[in-house]
Amino acid sequence: MDELNTLSRALLDARHYETNQSAFIMPEDRPAFHLSPRVGWMNDPNGFSFYNGRYHLFYQYHPYDSHWGPMHWGHAVSSDLLHWEYLPAALAPDMPYDYGGCFSGTALTLPDGRHALMYTGVADKITRHGGRQQVQTQNLAFGDGLNYAKFPGNPVITAEDLPAGASDEHFRDPKLWQEPDGRYRCVIASRDNEGGGQVLLYESEDLVSWRLIRKAAENHNRLGLMWECPDLFRLDGQDVLLVSAQDMLPQGFEYHNGDGVFCLIGTFDPESGEFRERANQAVDYGIDFYAAQTILTPDGRRVMVGWLMNWDTCNQHYRNYPWFGQMSLPRELFFRDGVLCQRPIRELEQLRADRICYENVEIRGEKVSLPGVDGRQLDLELEVFPLDGPYQRFSVWFAQDEQFHTGVSFRPHESVLKIDRKFSGSRRAIIHQRRAKVAHENGAIRLRLILDRFSAEVFVNDGEKVMSLAVDTPVTADRISFFADGAVRLNVKASHLTK
Ligand code: FRU
Repeated sequence: MDELNTLSRALLDARHYETNQSAFIMPEDRPAFHLSPRVGWMNDPNGFSFYNGRYHLFYQYHPYDSHWGPMHWGHAVSSDLLHWEYLPAALAPDMPYDYGGCFSGTALTLPDGRHALMYTGVADKITRHGGRQQVQTQNLAFGDGLNYAKFPGNPVITAEDLPAGASDEHFRDPKLWQEPDGRYRCVIASRDNEGGGQVLLYESEDLVSWRLIRKAAENHNRLGLMWECPDLFRLDGQDVLLVSAQDMLPQGFEYHNGDGVFCLIGTFDPESGEFRERANQAVDYGIDFYAAQTILTPDGRRVMVGWLMNWDTCNQHYRNYPWFGQMSLPRELFFRDGVLCQRPIRELEQLRADRICYENVEIRGEKVSLPGVDGRQLDLELEVFPLDGPYQRFSVWFAQDEQFHTGVSFRPHESVLKIDRKFSGSRRAIIHQRRAKVAHENGAIRLRLILDRFSAEVFVNDGEKVMSLAVDTPVTADRISFFADGAVRLNVKASHLTK
């Protein structure tokens, strides 16, 4: 696509603004290898895809403010999912069907070589009682990896394509794919009149005319209310429906995030379009992880990325932040014993600058620091074993100085791992902790912490559970220490992560 002059004023303004304003953000004031917005606000990952030899990651984007506003699509590319290059904003809300925002969606490479984006357009309608109500429809844009033209026939899926009892106000986040026989399909999040979430499956021969196949899955008011950002894929012989749910009720130690990502695991029948659920599980047990999308990499890995933030605390920062929001580390998904597990993408190992190892460090009731194990960009692998019988608690503190620290602690007698950012510098005492039940053998546990400047992601027992959180602490707080109430033996492998 050549014609820059077909791009709207709104998009050109956004591109002009982001080019100018992003120049004031120093690379060292951003995460090092987690994608952050070029300027302003970022939420969901969008259009995660591999196109013309590079990974493309778009994102919900409000360039003009560090708070949510009319949604654009920001755009970045990478060849390893860790070194990101910004491209100009891809979509702006500039059409009658999307002037309220270009909401989340996905991308697909078409047989003719074009890159298709499918996204939700938000507009308003006047109701019978004279009020205003949002209407969400599904739309297409086609491009070359740099510039995208909205399809003149938009919207392609509207309220007329909804099943009875489904809301036209909550109908969003299409996940688009192509079946081996050439048919296009998408799943879209929808809300029924009872307020529950459901996932609708649609089919098309040509991307333009769509027909509803059925409700692939529905909520029945369990696992939250509205479901957002569905993703459907097959992995290790299982079908997985990934969903971001709003307003989940905790069940024991599960689903504590309120708005959080979970998955249904079961069988998707491609003919009937029904998803038969065998199990469900949370996908991240931390504070900040939402709206995840996956991709199949050229070498066959299912890689997931999510928004490393949550809707409850995301508006607590001051307006003068030049950027706000970041993506999670891309994670490889796999099954172990029927459980969906995650590990950091293996490309991360190429960022390891050194390797510092300690074996059999004995910690007995005191706080221990280990020379060389420090910093805010670190891959930290820990193996903890009980020493002289059971211990009460093991903790690791990071992003630490005299004033601040964030901690991960494990209490074997409760089998509970806790993350706590109470002392991370936040001035609001909301959502600082989260707990997860984790497996261990008499207190023996493995943890891998991936620290970037403003985040920590804790992988437990080789990816069985993950706890993610954003950390707002000044980067000068870079000490790490270990503590045991009781006695533990600790093995440590640490590598600084540099680009
Ligand atoms: C999820 C979400 C999506 C929507 C987008 C709007 O975080 O609410 O459902 O498309 O964010 O920015």
